[in-house]
Amino acid sequence: MDADAEVMILSNRGPLGFARRADGTLEARRGGGGLVVSLGPGAQRAGALWAAAATTPDDQEAARAGRVDAEGFRVLPVALGAEEYRAYYDVVANQTLWFCVHGMWDLPRRPRFDRHWWKAWETFKEVNGRFASAAAAALAPGGTALVQDYQLALVPKMLAELRPDAKVASFLHTPWCCPQELAVLPDEAAVELLAGLAGGGPVGFHSPRWAGSFRACCDERLGATATTFVSPGATDADDLRAVTASAECRRELDDLASAVGDRRLIVRVDRIELSKNVLRGFWAFDDLLEQRPDLRGEVVFAAMVYPSRAGLAEYQAYAQEVQTLVAHINARWGQPGWTPILLDPDDNHPRSVAALRRYDVLLVNPIRDGLNLVAKEGPLVNERDGVVVLSRHAGVFDEIGGHTLAVNPFDVRATADALARALDMVPAERAERAEALRKVLDARNALQWFDEQLAAAGGGAPA
Ligand code: F6P
Repeated sequence: MDADAEVMILSNRGPLGFARRADGTLEARRGGGGLVVSLGPGAQRAGALWAAAATTPDDQEAARAGRVDAEGFRVLPVALGAEEYRAYYDVVANQTLWFCVHGMWDLPRRPRFDRHWWKAWETFKEVNGRFASAAAAALAPGGTALVQDYQLALVPKMLAELRPDAKVASFLHTPWCCPQELAVLPDEAAVELLAGLAGGGPVGFHSPRWAGSFRACCDERLGATATTFVSPGATDADDLRAVTASAECRRELDDLASAVGDRRLIVRVDRIELSKNVLRGFWAFDDLLEQRPDLRGEVVFAAMVYPSRAGLAEYQAYAQEVQTLVAHINARWGQPGWTPILLDPDDNHPRSVAALRRYDVLLVNPIRDGLNLVAKEGPLVNERDGVVVLSRHAGVFDEIGGHTLAVNPFDVRATADALARALDMVPAERAERAEALRKVLDARNALQWFDEQLAAAGGGAPA
């Protein structure tokens, strides 16, 4: 393979997915997800070669052909078998590292670091090694590699060792946890994890809080200070505006308008994800309806919550709990002609954007979140001076918290009170807050974020 890539991105999920056409040939389609949306503009402008996991049979077939150029992206598929993907992605990345950095352990039951887990850890290392080798072979002399997220946490050090000439930076889209939470991981794995990240160039985070926690972990466990940088991510505003202007989004907005009528609308847009705190959002809404009889029949909660990581028992159980709770609340308060919660499990982007245009209140209440792009996208497209109720534990709180109604995401009563306050807010204050949010959000874009990663790696940003 030619070592000709001046800039590379490495991430688990890539910008393309493959599907078979009726004539049997493979078609590349643009993939979604926050990471891909944010990196897309920078990747395209830099002509970056993007190494990403190829896991489905169609992806694997595309991987056999080598590099793929489609939809404005250059992709280097890294083929992973089903069994190894389950060990690397499900068992280690999502069931272990994700729960660790979000502080979500259910300690009396999990995690269980048994022999099965240690085998998965070995696979995690092998998969990270495969990404590092693929990048080492493709990167031009002195080229820049931007390694994304916890799934590839061991790649930075591996790549720096394979290619000492390369400029490497990594970026974590998650929060980071305190040393005590990290101490749940077995010593050997914790040290490998921290060294894997810190041993290959600076490590970036969306919030100074996560960078500080990471440095504290490295100080304590490695006895060495890690180099970090902070660069809050941004959405691809042009893409968002294009979706907003699309006929599909207009249709979805019309459908929503007929379902909601002139009632007020609370919206959330999330994956069904434990860290997003979906249940407490509904408990807060239940409390709101109990406390405020005047709002019964007058407010709708549109919850666009779409399936995620469905291979994991924790996520399946959580999705079930969400559905049961919504059914309970709707049965408790619903009246003919009024369904309090509209639960939408379809991952339909134009529909989600339509809901963001229409909300009066946007609820973003994660128990901990690296950034939270929805809290940035909502105010950019909202057309009703909607109020954002925002968890203090979302990374984005650093940037926009002052213009939102802040909540402790664990406090259901406080969340219900914040929803009430948002619904009661007088138009002048709503307009003032919405304007302030737009101003902050307009000041930063996805290309700046990309450039800050390049600069951190020492690769410089284009003039
Ligand atoms: O926030 C971390 C992250 O990996 C994002 O990059 C991504 O959009 C999201 O979680 C979804 O994760 P997955 O790729 O597992 O669906």
